[in-house]
Amino acid sequence: MTTYAEFHQRSLTDRDGFWGEQAKLVDWKVQPTQVCDYSNPPFAKWFVGGVTNLCHNAVDRHLVTRPDQAALIFVSTETNQEKVYSFRELHAEVQRMAATLKELGVGKGDRVLIYMPMIPEAAFAMLACTRIGAIHSVVFGGFASGSLASRIEDAAPKVVVSADAGSRGGKAVAYKPLLDEALRLSKFKPESVLLVDRGMAPMEMVAGRDKLWAPLREKNMNVVVPCEWVDATHPSYTLYTSGTTGKPKGVQRDTGGYAVALAASMKHIYCGEAGETYFSTSDIGWVVGHSYIIYGPLIAGMATIMYEGLPIRPDGGIWWSLIEKYKVTVMFSAPTAIRVLKKQDPALLKKYDLSSLKALFLAGEPLDQPTAQWISEGLGRPIVDNYWQTETGWPILAISKGVDDAPTKFGSPGKAVYGYNVKLLDESTGEELTGANQKGVVAIEGPLPPGCLQTVWGDDARFVSTYWTTIPGRMIYSTFDWGIRDEDGYYFILGRTDDVINVAGHRLGTREIEESISAHPNVAEVAVVGVADQLKGQVAMAFAVVKDASKIPDDASKLALEGEIMKIVDKDLGAVARPARVRFVTLLPKTRSGKCLRRAITAVCEGRDPGDLTTMDDPAALQQIKDLVAAK
Ligand code: PRX
Repeated sequence: MTTYAEFHQRSLTDRDGFWGEQAKLVDWKVQPTQVCDYSNPPFAKWFVGGVTNLCHNAVDRHLVTRPDQAALIFVSTETNQEKVYSFRELHAEVQRMAATLKELGVGKGDRVLIYMPMIPEAAFAMLACTRIGAIHSVVFGGFASGSLASRIEDAAPKVVVSADAGSRGGKAVAYKPLLDEALRLSKFKPESVLLVDRGMAPMEMVAGRDKLWAPLREKNMNVVVPCEWVDATHPSYTLYTSGTTGKPKGVQRDTGGYAVALAASMKHIYCGEAGETYFSTSDIGWVVGHSYIIYGPLIAGMATIMYEGLPIRPDGGIWWSLIEKYKVTVMFSAPTAIRVLKKQDPALLKKYDLSSLKALFLAGEPLDQPTAQWISEGLGRPIVDNYWQTETGWPILAISKGVDDAPTKFGSPGKAVYGYNVKLLDESTGEELTGANQKGVVAIEGPLPPGCLQTVWGDDARFVSTYWTTIPGRMIYSTFDWGIRDEDGYYFILGRTDDVINVAGHRLGTREIEESISAHPNVAEVAVVGVADQLKGQVAMAFAVVKDASKIPDDASKLALEGEIMKIVDKDLGAVARPARVRFVTLLPKTRSGKCLRRAITAVCEGRDPGDLTTMDDPAALQQIKDLVAAK
C-alpha cells in the first residue's frame, strides 16, 4: 500500500509516469506522445500530441454505458422548476446549441461570452462551445455593465449568449439592459447575441444582432453536430479573475490537461463515482462552477445538480432535502453558505435522510473552526476544506480522500495535493522557508500540474510578470496568499498578500472597486480595503476623500453621497462588489512616497495594531479613520 506521502512524491519525481497513468481516465481520439513539455518555462504543455474533446469526455462517452442515467439535474427554487436531463437528453440539447452557435458563425478558436443565470441553457452553451472547439468565457451573472464590458473587450467574442433575466429571492433581475449597456460601452462589438427568453423581463431586441434561442432550438431539434477533435493544448475556456491591477485577467485553460486533472481529482480527492450525484452550490460564473458543477462530475459520469436560488428559500432545509431526494454522495459548498445555514433552525439538518452523503467539501475562503465544527457535528460526515484558485482550476491543498486517510485539522485545508510542488517563500528575500511554522507566501514550483492556467488570455508577458519569480534554475508561481506549514505538512492560509479580497467566497479586486467609485464627480480619491466579517468572511470598506467638502456639510448629505456611490458600484460592477460602507475623510494615510497604507487601514478597521508606521506621511489621516471606526 502506498502512503499519501509516496503518492505525492511520485507525482513530482516521476511526473510523466504519474500523469501518463492519470491520462487513462479520459478518452483520447489520438493518444498523447509526450506527457509534459516544459522546454519553455513557465509555459507548460500537457499531453502533447494528444487529440481529444472536453464535451466528448463530459457527455458523449457516457452515451454507451449510461444514456438514460441523470446527467444534469436542474432545480430552481426561484421559478419552482425541476428538470432532470439524462445523458442522452443533455447530448441532444448540447447539439442543438452547438448547431445554433455554428449557424451564428462560431468556429474553432472563436470566443463565446456567456452571461447567464443558473439555468440549463448556460450548461448547454458551455458544453456546446467545447464541443465545437470554441472558447467560452462565462461572466458571473451578478456582475454589471462595467465588468461585463471590460470582459467583452478583452475576449472579443463572436457571440454573446444571455437571457432576459435571472432571479434572486423570487424577484426577477433583468440581464438584458445590463448587457445592452455593456455592449454600448465596449469598443468591441460581437456579431450576434443569442437570448434565452424565460418570460421574466421584457427584452428590447436589436434587429440583426439579437436572436432568440427557442426558435433556433426548434429548428435544430434533431441535429447531429459531431465533436471537433482538438489538440490537448487547445484552449477550452477563459475565465476572468481579479488581481492587483484594475484590469481583470483572462485565465486561459487548455483541453487535455484540464480533462485529466478533473478526472483525477474526482477519483483521488472527491471520491465521486459514475452513477452517483454531485451537488456543488456554486455558480457557473466562478471556477468552482466550471470544474465542479459542469466538467468534473460529468467527466466522471455523475449526475450534477445545478441549483438556482438561495440556500434558505423556501427554508434552510432546501439543500438537505436535495441530498435526500437525489441521493447526493458528494457535496461542495463555501464556508459563507454554511455560516448562513448555521443561523437557521438546527432541526432542519435532522429532518432529511442524508445517509447517501460521503463528504462535504468546502472551498473559496477560510473555513473558521466554529462553522467547521457545527457542520461536521450536524452532518456526521467528513468536512474537507480545500484550497485553490481560479488560476489552478482544481485543489492545491486538500486531504485527498481517495488516497489519504489522514485526519482533518480544523483551520487547515490540508496538505499539498499530488502534482503540486508547494513551497513557502520568504516575502522579502524570495528564499524558500523549509522549517515548520514559518510564515511565507504560498508558491508552487513550475511546471504547474495539468489543468492549471496556460497563460493569461492574449498576454503571455502578463502571465509571466504577474505570477512567476525565478530562483536560479527554477521558476516559482505565486498564489498571492500567506501561509504556514506545520510539522505534519498541513498548511494554514492567512489571507492575500495583494489587494484581492474575498467577500462571501467571491473574489474581488479592491482596485476595481476604487476605480468604479472614482467615477463619482465628487470623489477625489478613495481607498477600498477588505475587513473581517463574521458572516461573509470579509466585506469591502471604502474611505473616500471628496473634492468639494462643502457639498456634504452634515450626516444626512454624507449618507446621500454614500448611497450615490453605492449605486455607481452596483451599476458598474454589480451588487457583489458594493462596499459595506463608504466613509468620508479629508486625507488618506500614505507613505511619504505617496503609497496608500491599505494594510494599516485594514488593521484599524479590524481593531488591530496597524504596525510600523514610521514611513507614514501624516498620522492625522489614520487618526480620522480610527475616529470613524470608534464612532461606528
Ligand atoms: O485567497 C485564497 C482564497 O480564495 C482565493 C482564490 O479565489 P478564486 O480564484 O475565486 O478561487 C476559488 C476556488 C475554490 C485564494 O487565493 N481561498 C480559496 N480557497 C480557500 C481560500 N482561503 C482559505 N481557505 C480555502 N480553502
